[in-house]
Amino acid sequence: MKTIYMDNNATTRVDPKVVEAMLPFFSDFYGNPSSVHTFGGNVAKSVNAARAQVAALINASPEEIVFTSCGTESDSTAIRAAIASYPDRKHIVTTRVEHPAVKNLCEHLAKNGYRVSFVPVDHEGVLDLDYLYAHLSDDTAIVSVMWANNETGVIFPIDEIAQAVNVRGIPFHTDAVQAVGKIPVDVKRTGVDMLSMSGHKIHAPKGVGALYIRKGTRFAPFMIGGHQEHGRRGGTENVASIVGLGKASELAAEHFVEQMPRIAKIRDRLEKELLTRIPKAMVNGTTHQRLPNTTSISFEYVEGESILLMMDTLGICASSGSACTSGSLEPSHVLRAMGVPFTAAHGSIRFSLSVFNSEDEVDYIVSNLPPLIANLRKMSPFWNQSEQDT
Ligand SMILES: Cc1ncc(COP(=O)(O)O)c(C=O)c1O
Repeated sequence: MKTIYMDNNATTRVDPKVVEAMLPFFSDFYGNPSSVHTFGGNVAKSVNAARAQVAALINASPEEIVFTSCGTESDSTAIRAAIASYPDRKHIVTTRVEHPAVKNLCEHLAKNGYRVSFVPVDHEGVLDLDYLYAHLSDDTAIVSVMWANNETGVIFPIDEIAQAVNVRGIPFHTDAVQAVGKIPVDVKRTGVDMLSMSGHKIHAPKGVGALYIRKGTRFAPFMIGGHQEHGRRGGTENVASIVGLGKASELAAEHFVEQMPRIAKIRDRLEKELLTRIPKAMVNGTTHQRLPNTTSISFEYVEGESILLMMDTLGICASSGSACTSGSLEPSHVLRAMGVPFTAAHGSIRFSLSVFNSEDEVDYIVSNLPPLIANLRKMSPFWNQSEQDT
């Protein structure tokens, strides 16, 4: 059976060109980049070449890029760096729809001496900017707002927020793990102070990420150890994966112009066909400011988990909410923050596409999903009740 993989916000296939770039760094060029000998020194050159490739993707300078182990580490490093650099400030501003990498850290800090303002969103997932601006104060150590939401794909106005936060002299961090490689991200134009990205969302391997730190931003390392990354992140570099992240960044920049409009077209057709063929289905989140690869669709009166299991038997991979929340029967915190009704939030499925998806995969889903949902609804007491109500 063919696998149709539409769960790319969870993780992506490592691009074969990325694998090819990485392979020599396992058994041929295995030196330690910190070594004095030329064998290690050449590896350091490759790490720095990757740094330049990552920097180019977001219009940063190479020395503003620090390699980490993942998006989560980048997020933690940024937030902890800010609070360590401003020890007198005890307030944090973030949103109610962040990925657990930011949300759970902020909730942890809220139990450990910090006040945290969680900015709400409306029913379309649009951020309440008035609330955000009203909660900035001289006590605010950091504002952390994701660039794009991993569940709905809704994009936040990072340019505008960064400017408003900058003029108050408050550091601004953005979790751009889902934005980088999908929409234009230009740190010079935007004025963010710190930005997180993750390799495995852009066709590099799992276990590598990067943090952009604007020159001049106050910083304290999270991983304290050796002098690697100019003392900003201790630990021997994950060289092969860093080289992979560099190559993936270069490919993302190349693919960007031609591939993203194609992906958006495929996503839009998938969405339109499903909404037409399946009654009581709705898109979660505004469709005006949204990642080109993502759609979150709620099928009322069915369990998302059941849909996933049935789709799995057909070889279709998607997700009900983010990878980190599936496995729990609670509707996702993102859909709850948007006030999506219980009967719809439970039946939400996220399809997230990549350069490796094609039109014929949409045809397959579109012909198989409507009967699948209809069968599940036949077994749902809530559906039978709703039919009687209408
Ligand atoms: C928005 C966002 N931030 C952070 C992360 C965490 O990234 P990583 O899996 O590399 O730790 C994810 C992963 O799903 C994400 O979607």
